[in-house]
Amino acid sequence: MIAETPCLMDAVRSRFAHVETCPFEGPRIFFENAGGALRLKSVIESSAAYAGYPDNQGRDNPASQALMETIARGKADMALFLNASGGQCFVGESGTEVLFRLVRTAAFGASAGGQMIGSTLEHPASASAMARWAEATGRPHIRVAHDNATGTVTAKAYRAAVTPDTRVATIVHTSPVTGMSVDVAAVAAAIRESAPECFIIVDGIQHASHGAVDVAAIGADGYALSPYKMFSRHGYGVGWASDRLTACPKEQIVNGPAANWEMGTRDTGAYATFSDVVEYLEWLGARVSDSTDRRARLEAAGQAIRAHEEHLMRAMLQGVGNLPGLADMPGVQLIGGAAIEGREGVVSLRLAGMASADLVQHLRDNGIRVHIRKNDHYCGNILDPLGFEDCIRVSVCHYNTEDEVRRFLSAMTQAVAKAQQGVD
Ligand SMILES: Cc1ncc(COP(=O)(O)O)c(C=O)c1O
Repeated sequence: MIAETPCLMDAVRSRFAHVETCPFEGPRIFFENAGGALRLKSVIESSAAYAGYPDNQGRDNPASQALMETIARGKADMALFLNASGGQCFVGESGTEVLFRLVRTAAFGASAGGQMIGSTLEHPASASAMARWAEATGRPHIRVAHDNATGTVTAKAYRAAVTPDTRVATIVHTSPVTGMSVDVAAVAAAIRESAPECFIIVDGIQHASHGAVDVAAIGADGYALSPYKMFSRHGYGVGWASDRLTACPKEQIVNGPAANWEMGTRDTGAYATFSDVVEYLEWLGARVSDSTDRRARLEAAGQAIRAHEEHLMRAMLQGVGNLPGLADMPGVQLIGGAAIEGREGVVSLRLAGMASADLVQHLRDNGIRVHIRKNDHYCGNILDPLGFEDCIRVSVCHYNTEDEVRRFLSAMTQAVAKAQQGVD
């Protein structure tokens, strides 16, 4: 719908900075969105404006009141984006820090004993938080195995490992390496069948740019976002905690507001730039639906984003015009299979006969920005079981076009030919 609606793709792209040209390297196609999405121009403007205001919150002057209104609006926009009718939205240092804080609060807030459970699909941010606070609270940290072939983890796999004394659970909404999403609502329901009181925390960091979020439908207690991966910027993470997680004891200034998750003076610009993202998604939703309701517009934007990205993923994997897709290129090994359904903007792959670093360089020489992922503390959970030392990750967002995918496939066809010469 984004590509089919006259002039919409141009209007979308015009709202982002550095769409076609890297300020350091020159013209390039940006397929490194999973490492950080393009920034909205409105985010850049708000960041500069708020960085310039010297005033602090909580004062009796118009500047201070304006800052506090921006924070209140930012929190309301976070709740709207997440469809959270209760609980608290807050800003932290990064997505990783927010996840650590949610997990730590849940681990200490839950009744003693029992176990904590997550999966091997998770990014190390949530997995490390769970390992750390399971050990500190004397509980085993169980890790449900993901499926190497499909690149995801199922409710069935969680159900088999959950016990009635499961106190804290983590679920990754979408893997940043395989690109495959998890049916989070089904996993949460499977956990609650046996352990209704379990605190469930979702890492939505890779998912958030690819579709609407609905914490109410998931039935979670915590949700984490990284704004730099959803068209905002670095410098903050966003968390949501349910009322019952918020009611658990947490670090705060003595006699300070008990429901408050934030510590110290926050950057008002962070809230302002999150509102910029919500404003953009509402704008997009209004172009692809007739709805005047803000949440309905966000959901419509999410559906349009999903449909467009599905089209791009199909082109990338199955080909476009007379160009073969990655799934049919000789020597291309896909990490986590070739499924379109459930894939959220990411394809990771290796090419037999060409080192991943050389493939990144080849694509770079052809004006395409992608990233190498290594079997290290970030991606070892996915690559190690497959026996791979590295792969390349190609990641798109809704502002990418079929023509960009075509140019990528054409460069990949050349890489395959080069690799085959090397192999022969
Ligand atoms: C799924 C997932 N979780 C957590 C993180 C960490 O987020 P941050 O960089 O904001 O700490 C990332 C970053 O790549 C991620 O993809």
